[in-house]
Amino acid sequence: MAIRFDGRVAIVTGAGAGLGRCHAVELAKRGAKVVVNDLGAALDGSGRSDSAAQQVVDQITDAGGQAMAHGADVSDAEQVADMVARTRDRWGRIDILVNNAGILRDKTFAKMELSDFRKVVEVHLMGTATVTHACWPIMRDQRSGRIVLTASSSGLYGNFGQSNYGAAKAAMVGLMNVLHLEGARDDIRVNTLAPTAATRMTRDLMPPEALDLLRPETITPGVLYLVSEDAPSRVILGAGAGSFAVTKIYETPGATLTGDALTPEGVAAAFDRISNPEGQQELTQAFQQTQKYARNGAEALGLKLDWGT
Ligand code: NAI
Repeated sequence: MAIRFDGRVAIVTGAGAGLGRCHAVELAKRGAKVVVNDLGAALDGSGRSDSAAQQVVDQITDAGGQAMAHGADVSDAEQVADMVARTRDRWGRIDILVNNAGILRDKTFAKMELSDFRKVVEVHLMGTATVTHACWPIMRDQRSGRIVLTASSSGLYGNFGQSNYGAAKAAMVGLMNVLHLEGARDDIRVNTLAPTAATRMTRDLMPPEALDLLRPETITPGVLYLVSEDAPSRVILGAGAGSFAVTKIYETPGATLTGDALTPEGVAAAFDRISNPEGQQELTQAFQQTQKYARNGAEALGLKLDWGT
């Protein structure tokens, strides 16, 4: 069945360019009313311009869709509150939030100023938290919401020169894990996109043939699925060039050390066993880990502990 968004209201941050623009345009094509948010910043987050967001709004409305521009800086709670209030005044609800706005300030950790570290965390992590926090009570009242956070392979796997960006992007996974649990009873589903796309962020890093394959249009279908009525929740979806994959975090069964083995030397001696992936498991909330360790510890000591499964 066709995935449609008629009657739905979506906010897409950083939608004046790149991936965000593509997400906004495609949501509007499928019936959503879209708030095109963009500060109009340079790649490093400096500067400001209203024209980027307005151009995307014009593109959507020229094609018969509905959109409004808002230039809120996602990391500024007052500006975000204004955007959310205007959205509600105009369209009455917020069903979909795609947190996409982002900047880069790459340098090796040794050379990085903490101010550049802070700024990147401020835009990606605090920006995502700020906009999501403003939309959250509305989605709870509606008892429905779809939220996408935008991570990066840099955060999931590491990338030289991106300690600030990698840390901020990995934080999306932590935020998603908790929001997934807290949103479940109100049908708020939260997922994370890990895109790899040809945009101004990456155009100097890849060969031209790859840039052509990695157009934002090859990624956006994944985002539309993640914000659809039948969306999954707590998924990390990698996307690029039409390829989609899911990243998961697993924990090894591990080893339980007692007595004389419960020493640094014991950990060293058991490390192959501790890190052996055979039988690894995906845990679904923090206390599962605590229960697993307590149960293993009790078993190793011959004690009885009836806690968790
Ligand atoms: P882009 O630079 O083309 O677009 C980002 C947009 O965010 C810009 O229009 C910018 O003005 C806006 N923006 C920046 N700071 C803002 C703020 N404080 N408030 C509101 N808007 C702001 O970048 P691209 O490539 O489209 O990236 C989109 C998202 O995808 C970012 O979160 C990025 O980190 C992420 N990403 C991109 C990858 C890629 O391969 N292009 C790889 C992994 C993640």
